[in-house]
Amino acid sequence: MQVNGTPYRCIWLEADKRTVGIIDQTKLPHRFETVSLRTLNDTIVAISDMLVRGAPLIGATAAYGVCLGLTEQSKDCSDTHLEKICAALIAARPTAVNLRWAVERMRSLLTDLPPEERVEAAYQEAALICDEDAQANESLGEHGLKLIRKKYEETGKPVNLLTHCNAGWLATVDWGTALSPIFKAQQAGIPIHVWVDETRPRNQGAHLTTWELASAGIDHHLIVDNSGGHLMQQGKVDLCIVGTDRTTCTGDVCNKIGTYLKALAAADNNIPFYVALPSSTIDWTLEHGAAIPIEERDQEEVLLVSGLAENGEIQKVRIAPEQTRAANPAFDVTPARLITGLITERGICKPNKKSLLSVFPEYME
Ligand code: MRU
Repeated sequence: MQVNGTPYRCIWLEADKRTVGIIDQTKLPHRFETVSLRTLNDTIVAISDMLVRGAPLIGATAAYGVCLGLTEQSKDCSDTHLEKICAALIAARPTAVNLRWAVERMRSLLTDLPPEERVEAAYQEAALICDEDAQANESLGEHGLKLIRKKYEETGKPVNLLTHCNAGWLATVDWGTALSPIFKAQQAGIPIHVWVDETRPRNQGAHLTTWELASAGIDHHLIVDNSGGHLMQQGKVDLCIVGTDRTTCTGDVCNKIGTYLKALAAADNNIPFYVALPSSTIDWTLEHGAAIPIEERDQEEVLLVSGLAENGEIQKVRIAPEQTRAANPAFDVTPARLITGLITERGICKPNKKSLLSVFPEYME
């Protein structure tokens, strides 16, 4: 995607072919700053402090974290050190399965190689993970585009979409998940308008999705998280598309907190509710969404709100009394029965095991 006319991916290798570049997403939309990751610890902090976030991008970053862990001062490529690196990365954030998926993929490739070949192989594999993610997201965008086009052909009016959190290109290596069909629709000249949930507490909708849509010239309104149900009752939403951090093989979808409420409102109003995901987000080991670990983040994210102050500085302000405590579960699970379909890189399927396996037969036991 483009930032002020310059093509960007969300993660890249710098000129020395060792250092990893990322966009610091905690500064958006106010400042566009890039950061260099040089060590395993830099990577873990970038993931846990959410300089990078979004399930596929966390996975890609962790893959490069393995590379950085192997090339640090000690240059220790032993099995023991590799195990330590992988365990530390997997612990950085618990919910998005792409993190575990990418680290396991790196580990299984590298353990079969002699230690002296591991660094080069790790960098090659991390680059492949990034390329595959960008390709998968572009493909799922083409499949999702068909839904938007169909709606436009039925009504002849601009298609009103609702999305939650940020599932745009910033959440992936490129293209995004839920926003990929939206970018494709814009490119295809289909008139669209997007309702963007602000997505408290970290406001990924307000900070990131709006920034992406504005940069792409896509018509949108920012709405508070509680507006969606009302807009649906008013007939102002044609289609909901969200991303996911982990989807079970039975089609239960874990995504940013608040997704479940939107799915309930969509079901009550007969509005199609789609989830867009690359297959790296499917957890083939889990049958029930209730088994997905839900990240509980720091209460300060709820008690303080970050924004641009009049002096031009990014500042945090407290919105509750000093003595108030906050709970901050970062994700929730939407049961498969509330989901219309899963938009994957191989096509759209129903949120159940049979339909998922028909698209990904290689996971049949
Ligand atoms: O806490 P975040 O910002 O990492 O959460 C991101 C989301 O919930 C996205 O919807 C999800 O990762 C899918 S987007 C590709």
